[in-house]
Amino acid sequence: MGKHFTVAIVGATGAVGIELLRLLEQRAFPVRGLKLLASPRSAGKRLRFRGEELPVEALSGESFKNVDFALFSAGASTSKVFAPLAVKAGTTVIDNSSAFRMEPEVPLVVPEINADDVRHHAGIIANPNCTTIISLMALCPLHRAFGLNRVLAASYQAVSGAGAKGIIELKAQVEAGGEHAPVAAVFPHPIAFNVIPQVDVFLADGYTKEEHKFVNESRKILHLPELRASITCVRVPVYRSHAVAVHAEFRNPVSVDRARDVVAKFPGVRLVDEPGAGKYPVPLATSGNDDCQVGRIRLDSALDNGLAFWVCGDQLLKGAALNAVQIAELLV
Ligand code: A2P
Repeated sequence: MGKHFTVAIVGATGAVGIELLRLLEQRAFPVRGLKLLASPRSAGKRLRFRGEELPVEALSGESFKNVDFALFSAGASTSKVFAPLAVKAGTTVIDNSSAFRMEPEVPLVVPEINADDVRHHAGIIANPNCTTIISLMALCPLHRAFGLNRVLAASYQAVSGAGAKGIIELKAQVEAGGEHAPVAAVFPHPIAFNVIPQVDVFLADGYTKEEHKFVNESRKILHLPELRASITCVRVPVYRSHAVAVHAEFRNPVSVDRARDVVAKFPGVRLVDEPGAGKYPVPLATSGNDDCQVGRIRLDSALDNGLAFWVCGDQLLKGAALNAVQIAELLV
């Protein structure tokens, strides 16, 4: 029997945490012991793993004794405080928050794209932003084929990207009906029957933090520090799976046939591109699925050497939990 590890999930009761728990079991990660950590509100709750009911404990500075890997998904402020404590205790942290992603000594990894970067870490490896991961799963094979120069995009992001509370808010507003939507709390406006061109807070240049993450993280993951990118991130009343409309300009001449071919061959991606037959990716089709789906690949009519396409992916899986577990798999 190979080596087995003690694993902690920080944020085990959250939308991503639940998926982490399920994926560790489904992918037969070599778990010897599992610690489920959340806020004190959840202490004493029980969650199922391999047929056993495990207790949820309140996260503390003492939580990481003898823990080999900690998968953090409890927000950036929790990561900022507790990830360094975990590292001090000898734990390797895979952090799903934005807390450390742009720190030079922290690898930012999508295993299909830059697995080698995982080798040089100082205890923390960062999991990229969900919209960034899903977009790059389509952009990476196209970049390898044609040389990426510039990206313009608009995202259509599901409410579960804001956690379990995002789902609850959309459900309550849908049930109340359009005219009687309850007050918005999680999102800045009612999200039922609406679309909101704001994900995260605005920065001085008029872009949001989410939009900055897309640009900065894409550059780091693709090793393209000069990449020019611009995105508008939009929240839509979809429970699960983000979609992104992407327009990309390349250094070399492109062809739709070659683009379809390289996308179809990329691991973790499924080409769904028969628009005449009504076949293209939609969020309902990628929800609960590991693979991202790409379709509507066409020559962009406004860019030189340009391609336009549409990509969908489950942001709780490839956009978060699955990518984190894949990183852990690289480390063992
Ligand atoms: P809890 O369920 O006890 O609030 P989501 O992204 O779905 O909102 O989930 C966030 C996750 O992070 C939950 O598991 C939540 O636990 C956990 N969490 C939030 N704040 C803290 C904190 N201060 N310490 C530990 N866990 C936290």
